[in-house]
Amino acid sequence: MSMRLAAAELVDSREILPGQWLQSYHAPDLANGARAGQFVHVRPGDYSGLVLRRPFSLNTADPISGIVTIHFRVIGRGTEWFTRLRPGDTIDLLGPLGRPFEIDARSRHLLLIAGGLGIAGLRLLADEALRDGRQVTLLFGAASSREVYPSNLLPDEVEYVVATDDGSLGHAGRVTDLVPEYEAWADQAFACGPLPMLAALARLAEGRRGRLGVARLGRKRGGGRTDPPGSPAARRKAFLQVSMEQNMGCAVGACLGCVVMGVTGVPQRVCREGPVFASDELAWDGAWS
Ligand SMILES: Cc1cc2nc3c(=O)[nH]c(=O)nc-3n(C[C@H](O)[C@H](O)[C@H](O)COP(=O)(O)OP(=O)(O)OC[C@H]3O[C@@H](n4cnc5c(N)ncnc54)[C@H](O)[C@@H]3O)c2cc1C
Ligand code: FES
Repeated sequence: MSMRLAAAELVDSREILPGQWLQSYHAPDLANGARAGQFVHVRPGDYSGLVLRRPFSLNTADPISGIVTIHFRVIGRGTEWFTRLRPGDTIDLLGPLGRPFEIDARSRHLLLIAGGLGIAGLRLLADEALRDGRQVTLLFGAASSREVYPSNLLPDEVEYVVATDDGSLGHAGRVTDLVPEYEAWADQAFACGPLPMLAALARLAEGRRGRLGVARLGRKRGGGRTDPPGSPAARRKAFLQVSMEQNMGCAVGACLGCVVMGVTGVPQRVCREGPVFASDELAWDGAWS
């Protein structure tokens, strides 16, 4: 689906966790055809005094009801402004932007790994995967139980496993501790969250083939052929895909405000080449991290 500007009417707005909001907008053009991993660039209203748009992941998109949701944390003036909107108010959404997650047609078991707000970048992928009859396990990490994503906002079919840094709920420790238990089960993994979490997952993914042995995987991805970086095929064949969140300016590829370093030394724009990358397309030890 091509990018478009949509006037979106707020239909519901609620605080689901301290300082974290879930807002539903009626935007049928956007809901129809948007894919998991893509994002919208949202313009605060004329009276906000704010000029720049703010990027948010498409948290859910339902083509039948025409409703899209965003899930965000209040961290500055823009996000604070959005919380004051009331049902019936309209804003404009530019999207869908960016490249989506790619699920291999043969993948049955999907491992989703979210750190905190990173759940907003993965939530729609759970819907897409379940719709196609796949199994989904979501590993979710937060500082404490107060920040754990409510399970009633997830489809029942998702296996939901929680880790908290302070041990107040679920596994005591990092969400990345849980990954080795699932790496043989998973056909593909998808992650969104803080950069150190993504870097740790990229390292785990790199060693996975060696730990499991390719024979145990039952199939070889890629068959020796190399796909161009940034292509859907490169993402589909990677074990791990990550969604990056860089500060953004234009969100349409013009300002270079959002670049991360690619593994070949070529800078990659998160808004155009991303925000979803195969983990082996990025230089995790690069200067940007
Ligand atoms: C592709 C993409 C998807 C995103 N999806 C979501 C989402 O689903 N939910 C969500 O809550 N946020 C998301 N973000 C981040 C969100 O865009 C920012 O939190 C928001 O723009 C902040 O606006 P503000 O006016 O409230 O804060 P500002 O006043 O603009 O900033 C407040 C503080 O936060 C810092 N900051 C702002 N944006 C970022 C950022 N992207 N990364 C790190 N620090 C930042 C600023 O430097 C400043 O210190 C996403 C960002 C990108 C690039
Ligand atoms: S935000 Fe301008 S190039 Fe990506």
